[in-house]
Amino acid sequence: MIADPFKVHTPMIVPSILSANFAFLERELNEVMGAGADFIHLDVMDGNFVPNISFGPVVITAVRASTPAYLDAHLMVADPVKYAEPCVRAGAQSITFHIEAVKDPVSTIRLIKKLGCHVGVSLNPATPASAIYPALDEVDLVLVMSVVPGFGGQKFIPGSLARIEEIRKRLRHDQRLEVDGGIDETTIADAANAGVDWFVCGSSIFGQLDRGQAISDLRACLTASRWKSRAQEPVVEE
Ligand code: DX5
Ligand code: ZN
Repeated sequence: MIADPFKVHTPMIVPSILSANFAFLERELNEVMGAGADFIHLDVMDGNFVPNISFGPVVITAVRASTPAYLDAHLMVADPVKYAEPCVRAGAQSITFHIEAVKDPVSTIRLIKKLGCHVGVSLNPATPASAIYPALDEVDLVLVMSVVPGFGGQKFIPGSLARIEEIRKRLRHDQRLEVDGGIDETTIADAANAGVDWFVCGSSIFGQLDRGQAISDLRACLTASRWKSRAQEPVVEE
């Protein structure tokens, strides 16, 4: 388990509980954390920004009470400012909102930062990477969606790799790049080679009978990849 994934720079395997069995959430969390997952990804959906409803602060409170893991909240909601505070109060330690949901990303980042959490910005597959550039300086992480958000179990969109490479070049070494959607044994190494640090895995972990084996197999793919810390690399200036 990684207490603060910003303090160390290694590739992180991040199970998304969207694909977990909610009837046994505490057991599910303990199983994946005990099997070597780094921290937990929470998909908050409002049925408005995306055509699905998942869970909100009530469930985050239950997750917080069940695991000491770092909690990474991905807000697929039309009004992130409204939901950020209750999610942080419930125990989320990072809040990532969608660039498509807000008019003024920089002021949204500043408002959320005041809550004392890490802040990320995410972009959908159809959104040009350049849409996030004005906000890049202020965020702790960028979450690249490699599927259309809303549901687990979809196929990785290959064009995401070029977007990841493009965004990676613009990040400082203290910022992190996260990918979400369709990450499994066939895609994780390509994403690592393109520059991803944090790998959200829903169905490729919770959809498997043996979650421990699933995590070790994903970890083995990362070990065999060309992932490297970018701490020494220069940042590209516009
Ligand atoms: C999709 C969510 C993802 C989802 C990923 O909208 O943001 O976090 O749980 O699921 P998989 O890994 O199955 O694509
Ligand atoms: Zn997500």
